Amino acid sequence: MMKKNRFRFSGKPVDYYFNTPFARLSEIVDKAKTVLITDEHVFKAHQRLFKGWDTIVLKPGEAFKVQRTVDEVIDQLITLGADRLTQLVGVGGGVVTDITGYVAGIYMRGIPVGFVPTSLLAMVDASIGGKNGIDVGLYKNMVGLIRQPSFLLFDPALLKTLPLAEWQNGFAEIIKHACIKDAAMFKHLQQYKIRDFQKDPSLLAALIERNVRIKTRVVVQDEFEQGDRKLLNFGHTLGHAIENMYALSHGQAISIGMVYAAKISEQIIGYKDSAKLESLLQQYGLPTSWAFDARAAFQVLQKDKKKAGKNMQYILLEKTGKGIVYPIPLAQLETIFNQF
Ligand SMILES: NC(=O)c1ccc[n+]([C@@H]2O[C@H](COP(=O)([O-])OP(=O)(O)OC[C@H]3O[C@@H](n4cnc5c(N)ncnc54)[C@H](O)[C@@H]3O)[C@@H](O)[C@H]2O)c1
Repeated sequence: MMKKNRFRFSGKPVDYYFNTPFARLSEIVDKAKTVLITDEHVFKAHQRLFKGWDTIVLKPGEAFKVQRTVDEVIDQLITLGADRLTQLVGVGGGVVTDITGYVAGIYMRGIPVGFVPTSLLAMVDASIGGKNGIDVGLYKNMVGLIRQPSFLLFDPALLKTLPLAEWQNGFAEIIKHACIKDAAMFKHLQQYKIRDFQKDPSLLAALIERNVRIKTRVVVQDEFEQGDRKLLNFGHTLGHAIENMYALSHGQAISIGMVYAAKISEQIIGYKDSAKLESLLQQYGLPTSWAFDARAAFQVLQKDKKKAGKNMQYILLEKTGKGIVYPIPLAQLETIFNQF
């Protein structure tokens, strides 16, 4: 028997298979009633894993996380004869898992879905929590559902083919988890570099499991984002604003966002360890400063979903390992921004 961990979300249980080879997927689902959805990069890098499985291969990248792709997947599912008993499995990065989760939620009013995340970011973040969806024009994740998958299979060996920039994106979220929830992991990360995790499968598997548990715990406690789940936005408020303005990668943008959120934490609630955070981010190949246009960034930021009346719900650090939701009056935030 495979070792599985069952986590109970409000809707239903989700089975997590940690450190499990992809090949064992056939023990979890019925191969004859399953359609895998992946993208061209993952398909080419791991072609032999897809042998014998019905597979839909998407064009890679965020630009394809749109309704048109959803329509194409639905057409292919109809062609394959998929029905209510068919299970979809998204095998890919966050783009693939988001689209697959969404299609599964609407095809025939909902069919079962599981995920095999293949990017570090999808393993520790995107595949967990049941949020899925697509972009509409300039608006990211504008349309979608909150609907849990039935299982998640984590196979760290899939990461052997992941480009370095994608490792860095994943580590930005891992460092975020350390900042808001896990001071011990912050210290642990200080002892290593990305290369160490690439070389040591058990070190990597343990790190993935630890982060999956952090994100899961936060989401289970607050599935519909009333409280604690907001902490996962640490670094994302400013990060999102500058990500689009300067065509930064997501990891780069939130790395910079985290540094500024830490500096704001120093000013407002006496956080002391911005410098340590900056060195840790640099150690994982992430940028910590950017000559962004503070005025323009503030304009974009004002339109953010986290705005509530005259306050911005900013995620700050009380100390490393303890994030808090902190309402900052927009006027005060503007003053702070103009100092940057
Ligand atoms: N649903 C959520 O809660 C949630 C949370 C965070 C992010 N997301 C979404 O996730 C997406 C970002 O995820 P991502 O960073 O994984 O992006 P992605 O899916 O675009 O993957 C990044 C790149 O890596 C490639 N890739 C993935 N696995 C690979 C492998 N094993 N070998 C070689 N190449 C591989 C992909 O083809 C792609 O080019 C965004 O759309 C974001 O909105 C969703």
